[in-house]
Amino acid sequence: MNINGKPYRTIWTDPAEPGAVFIIDQRPLPHELRIVALRTLDEAVTAIRDMWVRGAPLIGATAAFGLYLASLEAQTQADPAACLAKASRRLAATRPTAVNLQWALDRMQAVLQPLPAGQWPARALAEAQAIADEDVQISYQIGQNGLPLIEAVARRKPDEPVHILTHCNAGWMATVDWGTATAPIYLAHQAGIPLHVWVDETRPRNQGARITAYELAAHGIPHTVIPDNTGGHLMQHGLVDMCIVGTDRTTRCGDVANKIGTYLKALAAHDNGVPFYVALPSTTIDWSLCDGRAEIPIEQREGSEVTHIQGWDEEAGRILPVRLTPANSPAANYAFDVTPARLVTQLITERGCCEASESGLLGLFPEKNSV
Ligand code: MRU
Repeated sequence: MNINGKPYRTIWTDPAEPGAVFIIDQRPLPHELRIVALRTLDEAVTAIRDMWVRGAPLIGATAAFGLYLASLEAQTQADPAACLAKASRRLAATRPTAVNLQWALDRMQAVLQPLPAGQWPARALAEAQAIADEDVQISYQIGQNGLPLIEAVARRKPDEPVHILTHCNAGWMATVDWGTATAPIYLAHQAGIPLHVWVDETRPRNQGARITAYELAAHGIPHTVIPDNTGGHLMQHGLVDMCIVGTDRTTRCGDVANKIGTYLKALAAHDNGVPFYVALPSTTIDWSLCDGRAEIPIEQREGSEVTHIQGWDEEAGRILPVRLTPANSPAANYAFDVTPARLVTQLITERGCCEASESGLLGLFPEKNSV
């Protein structure tokens, strides 16, 4: 997708600079476009853990490229296999909720383990690149499969924009390109359908206010940033035609973990008869789990993300934290919550749309019947 009219992906390599993986550092967005080269495993671990990159599919792709960097470092170690296994464990431990991370690491290990260590870097780079390229295709397909849902609303109200509410950033900055929740939105916009997006600010890290708004603005899509608690009011007043969100892990029975606050939006949507769609690549499905509330690990982050808010200081020309809460008030920072399948109208995947249920998902992914 575009920034200032120039097409970017969120992660890429350059044959002229072997051993470097380039990312958009998302921390200073929307105020500064900072491109960073990751050159070591340590840097890849830091980039995921400290959310220079974020969003389930992009975390997976970054972990894959991180293992490529680790495979270069392993060449000089006495026991390269132990070194690679340790790197994989370190990357896996960075963020616990998005299952794409472990999925990407398992896929990388499966292709590297049978090979002699000397062949790892070239093979790892090719596999990480394949994961990134496939993610772009998958997101585009999610867009194609979600587009008819928007078109159907547009046909019902031809003289008005379709109002879509989204939470967090499940946009192209959360994937390698296109996004999941936003892919149908971008395609609908390209098709000339009048749209308007309600963007939840998404406290405490404000991925909606900072990143989704930035993306939509860059593509000329009408949008309004709203405080997180506004959605219910808008739905009661008929101002939301549909919700579309992403997910970090979806169980085989259709329960959906996504950014904290998603569950409350789903409840409000259910109460007001507003369709609630979840867009996801199959790499986000955890086929080993059914009961999301009981079984999906929920990341808890630093309380300082709640006690302090980050903003652009014009004078200093950089992002600065400002305290919000009394100095001694403790803060809790659950990063995700689980929306039960019964509150999800449909899942939008790269293979099509389905009911949020085991039979719905297995209808699209019959090869997982035996998993
Ligand atoms: O903590 P984050 O910013 O990584 O959380 C991201 C989300 O919750 C997204 O909605 C999810 O990863 C889906 S991204 C296509």
